[in-house]
Amino acid sequence: MKVGIIGTGGIAQLHARGLISCGHEIAAVADISPQRAGDFAQKWNTVACSIEQLLKQKLDLVSVTVPNVFHFEVAAQAIQAGHAVLCEKPMACNPAESAKLVQLVARHGQPFFAGYMKRSHPTMQRFREYAARIGTPRSGLVRVYHPFPLHMWGWMAEQLKKDPQSLRPTVFNDGVFVNSGSHMLDLLLWSAGGVRRVLASRFQRHEGVTTDTAAHALLEMDNGATVTVECGWLPLTGVGRRENGWDEVLELRGDDGLARLFTTWWDRPETESPVADLWHEPTRQTETFNAGPVDYFAKEYELIALALQGQKVPLATVTEAAAVDTLIYDIFAAAK
Ligand SMILES: NC(=O)c1ccc[n+]([C@@H]2O[C@H](COP(=O)([O-])OP(=O)(O)OC[C@H]3O[C@@H](n4cnc5c(N)ncnc54)[C@H](O)[C@@H]3O)[C@@H](O)[C@H]2O)c1
Repeated sequence: MKVGIIGTGGIAQLHARGLISCGHEIAAVADISPQRAGDFAQKWNTVACSIEQLLKQKLDLVSVTVPNVFHFEVAAQAIQAGHAVLCEKPMACNPAESAKLVQLVARHGQPFFAGYMKRSHPTMQRFREYAARIGTPRSGLVRVYHPFPLHMWGWMAEQLKKDPQSLRPTVFNDGVFVNSGSHMLDLLLWSAGGVRRVLASRFQRHEGVTTDTAAHALLEMDNGATVTVECGWLPLTGVGRRENGWDEVLELRGDDGLARLFTTWWDRPETESPVADLWHEPTRQTETFNAGPVDYFAKEYELIALALQGQKVPLATVTEAAAVDTLIYDIFAAAK
């Protein structure tokens, strides 16, 4: 594939590594900062140009890797220019923007993928198979805690004040819940179906900028199960499956079993890989699956290439990403 990347910050580096490792070409890159685009282009041996110039090129895919608050406008431009698009998550910052993207994709008809790249990992796919074997669903847990020391909050506030996103207030502030919780909510909806009722609390810090520190929710799923959601920053460094502070779990419990998924940092596939397991009551057996080192982004681009050839792949569609945005919004609305 010939791919154009808009937004050449941190995550674009992982996109570039994934793309190159599967033999795709980074045809051009653009960024609001020409300096950043230029540095990125030099590192990845490609050309930097303006967004307008990039969108005029013949490309197989445009990857949108700008901050959340700009996803909508940049993705909309790329769709309207006739490109297939991969848009980082969360897809938009409110349900109205998500709905407009759903309409635009329907109107223009080209492929659109939301960057819930955890789905591309074989372990997530195995978890989904385990989830289908738990029998009548009863309860679940979405837990996402990232370690953050209390003494670093002043520094965080200063960083956020410099962030262009802080100039554009949105309901979806950056934070663990929106940035990492969105992945787990996507996996929840993907494996357990829709949500019909939400109770929630939201916790924030106000230090010149408002930061989301935690969001807790109780979800009543369409299938009747009750799912607890707890996401945020805590200064706990030795918890989680690997005892490194990354405490990210999805559990689904039913009459026939308990399916669990333990996920890892997104940026170090060489050293950490997610694990799924199933306790299956009818056979009284535990099954465990670990796919080993898999680069989420390489896998994501591999699947996109297959999708562009017409194959069905387990990536999030615009409608599924809109459902995650709506759930985030509903959780915040319930917490208000
Ligand atoms: N899939 C994952 O697991 C994962 C992990 C981390 C971040 N992300 C997502 O990636 C996106 C980018 O995050 P990041 O950490 O790379 O941020 P970043 O701040 O490091 O990079 C963003 C880049 O976009 C540029 N930019 C800002 N506004 C722009 C605009 N309007 N047009 C063009 N360029 C613009 C900035 O100059 C910067 O270079 C976010 O949506 C974030 O949620 C995804």
